[in-house]
Amino acid sequence: MPTLTKEISFCLNGRERTVAAEPGRSLLRVLRDDLGLTGTKQGCDSQGECGACTVLLDGEAVRSCLTPVGKVAGREVTTVEGLAQGGRLHPLQQAFVDCGAVQCGYCTPGMLMAGVALLNRTIHPTRQEILEALDGNLCRCTGYRTIVEAVEAAAAALHGEAVPARPEQEVIGGSQVRVDAVDKVTGAARYTEDIQMPGLLHAALVRSPLPHAVVEGIDPGPALEMPGVVRVLTAADIPGVNSLEGYSQDEPLLTPAGDTVRMVGAAVALVVAESVEAARVGAAAVRVDYHPLPAVYDAVEAMKPGAVRLYPGGNVLSSCELHFGDLETALVGSEVVETEYRTSFLEHVALERETVLSYTDEQGRVVVVAGHQEPHWAQGWIARALGQPAERVRVITPPVGGAFGGKQDPWPLMAGALAAYHVRRPVRLTYSRRESFDASPKRHPYTMAFRIGARHDGALTGLQMRIVANTGAYDCDGRYIPNYAVVAGGGPYRWEAVDAFAWSVYTNGPKAGQMRGFGTPQSTLGRECSLDELAARLGLDPLALRLRNAIDDETVTFLGYPPAETMGYRQCLEAIRPHYQAALAAVEQANRSRADGPWRRGVGLAGMWYRFGKAGRLESEARAELGRDGRITLFFAAPDYGQGTTTVMAQLAAEVLGLPVERLRLVNADTALTPDSGIQGASRSTYWVGGAVVQAARVLHERILRTAAEMLDCP
Ligand code: FES
Ligand code: FES
Repeated sequence: MPTLTKEISFCLNGRERTVAAEPGRSLLRVLRDDLGLTGTKQGCDSQGECGACTVLLDGEAVRSCLTPVGKVAGREVTTVEGLAQGGRLHPLQQAFVDCGAVQCGYCTPGMLMAGVALLNRTIHPTRQEILEALDGNLCRCTGYRTIVEAVEAAAAALHGEAVPARPEQEVIGGSQVRVDAVDKVTGAARYTEDIQMPGLLHAALVRSPLPHAVVEGIDPGPALEMPGVVRVLTAADIPGVNSLEGYSQDEPLLTPAGDTVRMVGAAVALVVAESVEAARVGAAAVRVDYHPLPAVYDAVEAMKPGAVRLYPGGNVLSSCELHFGDLETALVGSEVVETEYRTSFLEHVALERETVLSYTDEQGRVVVVAGHQEPHWAQGWIARALGQPAERVRVITPPVGGAFGGKQDPWPLMAGALAAYHVRRPVRLTYSRRESFDASPKRHPYTMAFRIGARHDGALTGLQMRIVANTGAYDCDGRYIPNYAVVAGGGPYRWEAVDAFAWSVYTNGPKAGQMRGFGTPQSTLGRECSLDELAARLGLDPLALRLRNAIDDETVTFLGYPPAETMGYRQCLEAIRPHYQAALAAVEQANRSRADGPWRRGVGLAGMWYRFGKAGRLESEARAELGRDGRITLFFAAPDYGQGTTTVMAQLAAEVLGLPVERLRLVNADTALTPDSGIQGASRSTYWVGGAVVQAARVLHERILRTAAEMLDCP
């Protein structure tokens, strides 16, 4: 094929640049791959959907993934790396830092560029203009409020309003600037996809297009003839155990010939090639013969006799039942409502897609760089798949562009490690967004039936729950779901009797796993909606019904024991009472005046409790070290995927040591350097890992003082 490469010159961040590129190649690829400006991100399949790739073209915001580089010839391009001038942040960058508009930071460069484009047009934008300017940019972390506030703050600074100085604040209890905020607003933060290595290869997966089928044969031959394809790996190339047992029983890393794929997107082969395109072409060329099987998608259907069977042992993965008191006796004389609710699969859509960089280091260790919530656990699964001792595997967690539970799945890391183990060159595996929708774990859909009763004075009596959770094709810790569904389902209320059953059921839907609150929000939704139905039936105010039945610290709950720690639920309800009543009055007024045309407003109220933390291994480790340069370094494993754990650990240690946060060095989540602090999920990091950090800092503090006292001969 004749090359269509041309020399294209343009002004980039104030400097003339000339690149040799096909004019139709996207500006995004040229910036990131050819010029190494990785501040500009990619969050979708370059279809203009996410806005993470936004840059300025002659001062206007454009999506660089949709902009052919030929179009920018002779024009001016500005990326996030070009915003700060003379070592000073642009006012919008500064406002993002000050307003806490940065969390995982993956959307931040695109947001900044969209905001700067607006501020280039006007330094007096209305809120509506700000919303419109940011309309094409998705953020999965912040809820947008702080981002909008940051644009307003930058506009105020630009038209000369004095920026209030940051008040002196307590380290704990004050509003701390995130330790990673400046790196994220300047594009300096290096996420997995931003790290370049010499000789980098790329991987792509061969995935099942069918929801349920026997793999009759896999022929890598046609792929190996494709230009650039280096290796095709199948289950036969897994030197250790082809399983995610312990995290996801029954799930293989790669489905071998003769075995069964159980969902669209199940992987059967891994192609490694010299370029992303070559890997994808190679993956498409691998010949896989499938024998289709009937499929079942609905978990209730999958429980019925005669349903399509996914596993020889049947479709029920796990179940939980709980009985407290006598339900029928409790319901005598009660007003009773029966309700049914269904929730759907939910995808996390972290703005950073699943991406893994793997290589072997000078010691021959397999190193895996990837966003993951449990690096030490991932190390164990990788080691098992490779048939290696754990210390021959190193997992490093760089900045992570959002997780929300989805990055507890070790599957992509294991696949990346397998590729590097075989080819002995650096390999990057990045899911397409489409692939992420197909292959990453989702929130479990629930089908719920509730029967609840209360006496006419509002005292709750009985609760019956039947919950069927759809865990999709593979386990992914879905075996814990029935327990979580039941515990969450009763909620923080006094019940005289509870009769609950829950099941986690395999179907040919996508595999379902951790997502924020793991198993809790679905049954909370069902119970709280049922309580509203009951309140309406009894003619009671929904808040009054909840207050009437809220548990206190000493209540023996339907679990058979009191809460382990303070509850505060009643106090929460009391605290919101005036706001709730004001909201009710406001909507009544709005609805009466019909000011919203055909729209009517309502007020929703819901409460919950949550079993934070996880069962199993409870200890967390952290280390604090005094260096010869007099600086203190903290070592811990609390991957920061936007929730701010690195900053929290620094705050905790700074408080104990009496030092400013900036004086600490922080080493987070690298299995070769940091101790195992346990998993980062279930809202446990601040309490558990933070507890370990505090303890380490205390011990070090005490030793420093004791040594100094000895040396100085003073108390
Ligand atoms: Fe360009 Fe998503 S809009 S990468
Ligand atoms: Fe916006 Fe994470 S901070 S996607």
